[in-house]
Amino acid sequence: MAEKKKILVMVASPKNERSGTLIPTKAFVEGLEQNGDYETEYIFIDKMHIKPCRGCLSCWGREDGSCFMKDDDVPMIREKLINSDIVIWSFPLFLFSLPGQMKVLMDRIVGMVHPYMGQKLKEGANALNSHLHGLQFQKEGQKIILLSSCAWMDLDVVYEPIRKQFDIILGHEGYTLIACPQMRALDHRGGPRRLNMLREKYRKGGAELATTGKLSQEAIDMMQKPIFSEDAYVTLVTEFVTHMFDRDDNF
Ligand SMILES: Cc1cc2nc3c(=O)[nH]c(=O)nc-3n(C[C@H](O)[C@H](O)[C@H](O)COP(=O)(O)O)c2cc1C
Repeated sequence: MAEKKKILVMVASPKNERSGTLIPTKAFVEGLEQNGDYETEYIFIDKMHIKPCRGCLSCWGREDGSCFMKDDDVPMIREKLINSDIVIWSFPLFLFSLPGQMKVLMDRIVGMVHPYMGQKLKEGANALNSHLHGLQFQKEGQKIILLSSCAWMDLDVVYEPIRKQFDIILGHEGYTLIACPQMRALDHRGGPRRLNMLREKYRKGGAELATTGKLSQEAIDMMQKPIFSEDAYVTLVTEFVTHMFDRDDNF
């Protein structure tokens, strides 16, 4: 029997198992696994021992790009990141950016991207996949997926900083962003029917990637489509924020 390909899910929500982002993430993984070709490991970043980067950049001088600090969980995580076929970063949007724990880890693995040696972003026709770094060392054909949830609905606006950051680091075609809007309200007020609709869409998306090796723009649009109508959502969010302190699901 052929060896299974590896999916690594990097869970960056500080809520760990209670993360709302895990709902679409797990459904996407189920879709990916449906043909039996993949096996999956979840790493909860918040539970890992990760010291902050010291800023020396000595990793870029080492042949394998590794950090000089070897006494925490980063060397183990780095090995798994390098050797996986699909890496899914599952994270909530925090202030239009990444949760702090994920950023601390990303700084520690900066040696996984090519060093900056004065290169410039290309312009015009070649600009699309132009980047300042790009990954080195990762398994051939590896796919990187950013699966992120947020509270807002206007995905183009709220994910612009993340897109810009990853376009510059990895190149536009070096990763795929799937953004899941309205997640907080869905998690707490969606009810089983809406949550199952969401799961079904993400299962379909994962299945498409497993079967075709690609994610079409149609599949991404389908996963990203808000579940609540705009009016219903505004009413819900207003109620949610107004009664923030009356609830026990708020922890
Ligand atoms: C500190 C903080 C900052 C946030 N910033 C944003 C934001 O900039 N835009 C947005 O749409 N949602 C924002 N949110 C909402 C979360 O992204 C949203 O609730 C997400 O679905 C939580 O996912 P999780 O349950 O997996 O942690 C923020 C939440 C927190 C706690």
